[in-house]
Amino acid sequence: MITVVGSINMDLVVGTERFPKQGETVLGNLYTTVPGGKGANQAVAAARLGDQVHMVGAVGSDAFGTQLLEGLEKEQIDTQGVKKTDGASGIANILLSEGDNRIIVVPGANHELTKSDIDAQKKAIEKSSMVILQLELPIPVVEYTLQLAKELGVPAILNPAPAGGFTEAMKQADFLTPNETEAEELFGTNWELELERYPNRMVVTLGKNGARYFDGDKHVTVEGFPTQAVDTTGAGDTFNGALAVALAEGSEFKEAVRFANAAASLSVEKFGAQGGMPNRMEVVSRMEAGE
Ligand code: RIB
Ligand code: NA
Repeated sequence: MITVVGSINMDLVVGTERFPKQGETVLGNLYTTVPGGKGANQAVAAARLGDQVHMVGAVGSDAFGTQLLEGLEKEQIDTQGVKKTDGASGIANILLSEGDNRIIVVPGANHELTKSDIDAQKKAIEKSSMVILQLELPIPVVEYTLQLAKELGVPAILNPAPAGGFTEAMKQADFLTPNETEAEELFGTNWELELERYPNRMVVTLGKNGARYFDGDKHVTVEGFPTQAVDTTGAGDTFNGALAVALAEGSEFKEAVRFANAAASLSVEKFGAQGGMPNRMEVVSRMEAGE
């Protein structure tokens, strides 16, 4: 079982030909709501790959809250660790344009998760073979969960996204998975060198160029798989969910990264953070095709 402690958002996706400039209004060509949130996305990615997933987080008492819970349940994710608050659910305002995205997250219920909510999940965490965290929850709660997982001897992946909340204490996470921008924010432009301090523990994702890590001897680039990207939202989340599944199964680090790359390359071929997240058969055939 994998426990994801993380955010659950409704993504309000708006598409337009080009991004508006400061103070400018442009016409859009798409508006839709789809379930998202880095935590929920990573949970769905892991569940589709066949793992049993326990979600810990919070949604609001609004209509989005109900829809978000139903969405997770449809993916066979255990939502007993998801609390309902009195306020609004988290949302992400996602602007899609020029083949890229810009995202504003308003945490809502996500920021009402507390350390005692984590304590209440201690049994589930203890039974897990992996815990996954991101930085869309209150930072003290993330640190607390990392500490608890460590005490219980359960390995944890910290996906330091968005980068702003990263703290020194988080470096104790067993695995770190920043993307290039986050790696730069965390460690400066010399992040490549920093990889050497986290052999087989930190992997920097490079979008279509795959991922990079240090194996103790040398720097390794695990190539990305060729893909036709429709929407890259959630690609990093798919990578993390898949990486967790592979590592929890005892895969070698390199093989786990390759599995995660393959899953991510499939996820971008469909619209929405969770649209396109593959099942195991799809990942395996992409890996075979790439050999
Ligand atoms: O990583 C993508 C996710 O970031 C979106 O689903 C959005 O909700 C934000 O949390
Ligand atoms: Na997608």
